[in-house]
Amino acid sequence: MLKKGPLLYEGKGKKVHSVEGHSDRIILFFKDSLTAYEGAKKGSFTGKGAICRNVFSLVFRYLKTQGVLNHWIEDRGAEESVCLKTHIIPLEVVIRNRLAGSTAKRLGLEEGNSIPSPLLEYYYKKDELHDPFVSEDQIIQLSLIKEKNILPEIKTQAFLINEKLKAFFSEAGIELIDFKMEFGTTSKGLILADDITPDSCRLWDMKDGWRMDKDRFRQGWGQVEKGYQTILEKISQRWKKELDEGLS
Ligand code: TMP
Repeated sequence: MLKKGPLLYEGKGKKVHSVEGHSDRIILFFKDSLTAYEGAKKGSFTGKGAICRNVFSLVFRYLKTQGVLNHWIEDRGAEESVCLKTHIIPLEVVIRNRLAGSTAKRLGLEEGNSIPSPLLEYYYKKDELHDPFVSEDQIIQLSLIKEKNILPEIKTQAFLINEKLKAFFSEAGIELIDFKMEFGTTSKGLILADDITPDSCRLWDMKDGWRMDKDRFRQGWGQVEKGYQTILEKISQRWKKELDEGLS
């Protein structure tokens, strides 16, 4: 059993630890806490960390079977996963399949409107600037990231991951409205890092449009725990056995 090392970083939803004797690995610990509006709204429920770890694990294991390189290595206990250590690129890469959230609000457009083809957005990860929206040209011309030469690869990967995840969720009866990704680099190149959980996606029930993701908490709609649990139940029912058996 790998030994957890010191805390490297604590974010709003996760703690990141080093691994003793393995400088190329980290342990992600998923917390029970929920935050919104840059930490201004706080909450939690028992078992939230375990749900998010399990959603993360199923999503990243599925993506591996689909040839999408990512940092997941193995799960550990109920709330942790061992992952490959990467150098994180300071961009939040958001893909939208249907209009919702900040873009709908900023542009005065109706939430739920369809978009002709997936929309890619970048947000520059810088706390003191509140992670502003940035254009592709700004990233390149202003050298916002050192790794700007791999932007075309990030873009290709992001659209590919979106196609894989739309299928992953829709087979479980869920529509993937939008989600956020973060990428990292290792000596072998670009890989998907961070996590994908109900905190960082919008997921609507395909039958009746019931919203199951963090918007339940952001908007104060209640039944946050039920939403998160339902997502995990639906994807587990469709994918867990297949992924556990290493089929797919
Ligand atoms: P937004 O509508 O607030 O811009 O978010 C779009 C999607 O990306 C939504 O599913 C939440 C996710 N997201 C994060 O998880 N963290 C972030 O910092 C941002 C900007 C978005």
